[in-house]
Amino acid sequence: MAMKAAKFLHFLFIWLLVCTVLLKSADCHRWKKKIPEPCKNLVLYFHDILYNGSNKHNATSAIVGAPKGANLTILTGNNHFGDVVVFDDPITLDNNLHSTPVGRAQGFYFYDMKNTFNSWLGFTFVLNSTNYKGTITFNGADPILTKYRDISVVGGTGDFLMARGIATISTDAYEGDVYFRLRVNITLYECY
Ligand SMILES: *[C@@H]1O[C@H](CO)[C@@H](O)[C@H](O)[C@H]1NC(C)=O
Ligand SMILES: *[C@@H]1O[C@H](CO)[C@@H](O)[C@H](O)[C@H]1NC(C)=O
Ligand SMILES: *[C@@H]1O[C@H](CO)[C@@H](O)[C@H](O)[C@H]1NC(C)=O
Ligand SMILES: *[C@@H]1O[C@H](CO)[C@@H](O)[C@H](O)[C@H]1NC(C)=O
Ligand SMILES: *[C@@H]1O[C@H](CO)[C@@H](O)[C@H](O)[C@H]1NC(C)=O
Repeated sequence: MAMKAAKFLHFLFIWLLVCTVLLKSADCHRWKKKIPEPCKNLVLYFHDILYNGSNKHNATSAIVGAPKGANLTILTGNNHFGDVVVFDDPITLDNNLHSTPVGRAQGFYFYDMKNTFNSWLGFTFVLNSTNYKGTITFNGADPILTKYRDISVVGGTGDFLMARGIATISTDAYEGDVYFRLRVNITLYECY
């Protein structure tokens, strides 16, 4: 029994030695995975109209959390730090709020920097049109003042089964604190 264990340890030692030598001499970069070619690309827009106390019928999002003492119909000072907004926004193929929606963008964002405008997005595109059926789920940091921001496409269903990729978002319009429109350029690197 002891003999067997010793033999095994000996073998293990030799194997580790061989591995170490091989790894050292190999060019580490050769093991790095190459980024694949994109397999799908689409550009969509979504429109967010924040509830401000008097636009109930038109609003598509609402402040649901705010720092203590702050108002749920007015975004806070301090670059809106601490405000949490839940949304159910229409998605359109072009930049017109009144175009026929192809789906809904559903999720939330919160403002997470005190000294500049910065938010974090977590949402799903729920698409049910003749062109697209299925969902795409996104999340990531959104440094709002930067023209183009990349967030992650973390998954999908239906036409976008197990989608993975990047979405480049940009603010296409901004009207006061009530309305903004985001352009979302979705590039998928994994498609089925
Ligand atoms: C809320 O927004 C609507 C639409 O932009 C605007 O007409 C209205 O005056 C705003 N109300 C308040 C209380 O700011
Ligand atoms: C809804 O709100 C948006 C953004 O404030 C505005 O452009 C649009 O005219 C409003 N629509 C109606 C029907 O009030
Ligand atoms: C928010 O502020 C507005 C304007 O100052 C006020 O009319 C409203 O009652 C406030 N709402 C809450 C929930 O404090
Ligand atoms: C998509 O739209 C069709 C036709 O309007 C409807 O029958 C179906 O239930 C919808 N599916 C989802 C997931 O909303
Ligand atoms: C979308 O993003 C991809 C990848 O960054 C880029 O190649 C493409 O030109 C963009 N498309 C549009 C319409 O902006």
